[in-house]
Formats: sequence, structure tokens, C-alpha cells
Amino acid sequence: MMTLEEARALDAADPFASARARFAVPDGLIYLDGKSLGALPGATIDASRDTVERQWGERLIRSWGEGWMDAPARIGAKIAPLIGAKPNEVIVADSTSTNLFKLIVAALRHDPARSVVVSEAGNFPTDLHIAEGAAACVPGATLIAVPRDRLAEAIDGDTALVLLTHVHYKTAERFDMAAWTRRAHDAGALICWDLSHSAGAVPVDLGEADCAVGCGYKFLNGGPGAPAYLMVAARHQAAWANPISGWMGHAAPFAFTDAYAPGEGMERWRSGTPAMLSMNALEAGVDEMAGVDMTALFAKSAALFDILAAQGDAIGLECVTPREPTKRGSHIAFRHARAREIVDALIDRGVIGDFRDPDIMRFGLTPLYLSHEDIVRAATILAETLADFPRD
Ligand SMILES: Cc1ncc(COP(=O)(O)O)c(C=O)c1O
Repeated sequence: MMTLEEARALDAADPFASARARFAVPDGLIYLDGKSLGALPGATIDASRDTVERQWGERLIRSWGEGWMDAPARIGAKIAPLIGAKPNEVIVADSTSTNLFKLIVAALRHDPARSVVVSEAGNFPTDLHIAEGAAACVPGATLIAVPRDRLAEAIDGDTALVLLTHVHYKTAERFDMAAWTRRAHDAGALICWDLSHSAGAVPVDLGEADCAVGCGYKFLNGGPGAPAYLMVAARHQAAWANPISGWMGHAAPFAFTDAYAPGEGMERWRSGTPAMLSMNALEAGVDEMAGVDMTALFAKSAALFDILAAQGDAIGLECVTPREPTKRGSHIAFRHARAREIVDALIDRGVIGDFRDPDIMRFGLTPLYLSHEDIVRAATILAETLADFPRD
């Protein structure tokens, strides 16, 4: 295993080392759960105080005309370069689940000759639950969820939409986005990517993809329950309709007309009033990613991964995350029958990871606020902790 001295030498040469000071991670804690809830940027504290005290407290309703109304499109445009989309193809709204619903219904209405949503069995549950619910709202539509090795054959002339999560929430396995987008398009189907574990974690290029969604509270550090984003390729924007056709997506919300007329471009994907306390917090988190070279950031993630993977090998832990960097996201997952207890014991020792039923422990690798030294320390604590859990 890498020594602390070796880790410190890597940290001394780390171009991201200074970013850590911009996050409020408590001293003594090794936080390996940024893939579930990103750490708090110091800038968010200031932004939130400004939102409450000045924007709300002093400016009151005038703030809608002083940046609040534009926030969904403005923040969407900042997320766009992180996912390989154009600034006018992304908007922030609602939760990932709600955005999935909107896009799945729209995609099912795109070509009435096609009625099947194809997804992966074991996808993040909300993707499957929402697809089932959305399909139930469109006459004749159904969801088919198959294991990854049967996906290619499941996509056929009935497929309206292929719905995939780019980086798997449990194993961190990463789909080849370009290849699966091509596979869907070759069959005449649309594709929607869930980027919840991708944006801000790995380089993403949506390329020819039709649409996408993703979380704001993971690698984008937007805060608990942060608003999510959705992307619709420019070529579909005029034709697709938001089934949750609320007044904020209307072409002229303040004309207060009875009849719905969809807004231009991505504006129609808004539904209700944006939650500004959360929006402004998300913007501060997204701003931390501005200008970050995602290839370099992921290279550091890969180096952190290697430290934990080597320790896992040394202590006989089964790693379920692919070793090849281009085939994974930015966390490492191990399988162990007593994973839940081990994760709890690690938390007691100041290393926060998490457990996913039935036997997976996950450790998020967030290079902006984790050092090589943190990971070497975590790896040592992992070995010490595991010694308390001998195999039967
Ligand atoms: C892949 C994926 N999609 C969606 C979600 C949930 O999205 P939301 O709670 O914003 O609806 C998660 C949450 O962890 C996730 O991992």
C-alpha cells in the first residue's frame, strides 16, 4: 500500500489541492460520500445568507426580476459544459424523478408507432418506478427492464426510448455513452441518460443523445434535495411537450391566460415556481465546477481509486467496480456479507461511506476535497475495521 509520505508527495503536486479549502469538510472526518450528498462549499454559506437576508429579506418580490426568474436557465447553462450539451439545451427544475417523468412521457409521444421503454434491471429504482408510472400514462406504453447483457437485443423496432443510467449507483460501472446512443438510434429509438453519478465526476459528452437528467446534490455539491436538471437536444425542443404543463413553463406566465402555450426552448420544461433558496445554493455548488478540467479531475479520482482498490486486494475484499477507469464512475464499491456493519464501524472511526442493500459498501471519490493522504488513511482504517469482521 502507498505510504503516507508517498501520498503527501502526490498531494504536494496535486493541481486540485487548493480546492479543498473551498469546502467546509469537518476536520478529522474522511468524507467518502460525496457521490450521495456533496460537501458544503464555503461559497454556499455566503450565497445562502445573501439569498435569505438580502434577496428575500430586503429585495423581497423584486428579486424575481433581479435574477430569480432566470436562475433555472442560467444554472442550466453552467451545467451544460459538464455534460457535453449546449447552454440552451439544459434547464434546472424539480427533482430528477419528476424530470424523468416529463421526458419519458414526451419521448413516448414522439413516435406513436413505438411504445416501449427499454431500461436496465437493477437501474436506480426511481428510474424504473417513474418509467413504469410514465408508461401507465401513455395508452399502450410499457416498460421492459432487462439485465445489461440483454439490453442490446431488447432494443428493437418497438422501442420508443432507451433509458440508461450512465454510471451505476451501486457498482459505478459506466456505459459507453456514444456506443449505446448509436445502438438506440440504429434501432430508430430515442435515448435518455441519467447523469446523476456522472456530472462533475467523469468527463461526459452527450453527443447525439436525445435527452438527459441528473441530480444537483451529488458531485455538483448543490445541497440536500438540490434541484435537478434536464437536457433536451435542440432538434427536439420545438416538438416535444412537457406533460407537467405548469404556468412557469408557459410562453407568457404573467399574461395569466387560461390556455396553455409552451415556452420557447427549454423554458417549457419548468413547471412550478423555482425553489430559490435551493436554486441559489445549487448555483454556488455548480460554480465550484466552473472551468474544472474534468479529464484531469477524473485522473485524480482514478489515482484515489487505485489506493483503495490495492488495499481491498491486500485484505481480500471483493471489488465490484471495474478496474479500467473508462468503464467506471467516481466511486468504488466492495461486496461483503457484513457490509452494513462494516460501514457503521467505519463511520464510528471517522470514515463516512455508505451501504447499499444487500451487501455493497460504497466509497465516493471526490477529488476537489479529498487528498491522497485522506485515502491512504481511509484505506488503513478500512483494513483495521475489517479485521474485526472475520469471515465465517
Ligand atoms: C441514478 C439516480 N437517479 C435518480 C436519483 C434520485 O433522484 P431524485 O431524488 O432527485 O428524484 C438518484 C439518487 O441517488 C440516482 O442515484
